[in-house]
Amino acid sequence: MSDAAQNPDLPENIILIGFMGSGKSTVGRMLARQLRFRFLDTDKLVEERARLAIPEIFAQHGEADFRERETAVLESLRGVRQHILATGGGIVTVPDNIPLLRSLGLVVLLKADPDEIFRRVSRNAERPLLQVEDPRRRVLDLMATRQPFYDSAAHFTVDSTRLRHEDVTEKILDEAHRFFHWPARMRA
Ligand code: S3P
Repeated sequence: MSDAAQNPDLPENIILIGFMGSGKSTVGRMLARQLRFRFLDTDKLVEERARLAIPEIFAQHGEADFRERETAVLESLRGVRQHILATGGGIVTVPDNIPLLRSLGLVVLLKADPDEIFRRVSRNAERPLLQVEDPRRRVLDLMATRQPFYDSAAHFTVDSTRLRHEDVTEKILDEAHRFFHWPARMRA
């Protein structure tokens, strides 16, 4: 039985979780466009509310403070409908966030091979957790520690390693139709 059948009141939102560089923001925007839903990104909401960029929050207040702000953002989203939510890669590391995420709607995990992730995240130096001597090792370690949390939060998983963002979006749209019992999709 699908979760929607078990939770008929689950709101029509899609929440994207996954490691940095897994494509949450790009795929999230594509989903929002296709479904005519609003797109939100927890990283952006944290930054707007703190009036600080993420690297500044980490530098001035530390990771624990960033996590509290992230949870506060999630809590403030209770009650939203027809939204696509991209989340920060570490959101699942706070245990209370997992039931919160699942109560918001369909939680989709975007996965990719570590090599692919590393290639994607190497393109920008914005991520405080990767400003270390051996970022590749860090990616591998963080991915391994976080995997069980991602798996326990997700209703549905897509491996995006060799897929185009458009194909990932299609797979999620198919699943959302099943999950929310939307009428069959029309295809051109
Ligand atoms: C983090 C991922 C980042 C951002 C912060 C911490 C993490 O988001 O929330 O730098 O702990 O993995 P993205 O996954 O959008 O890069």
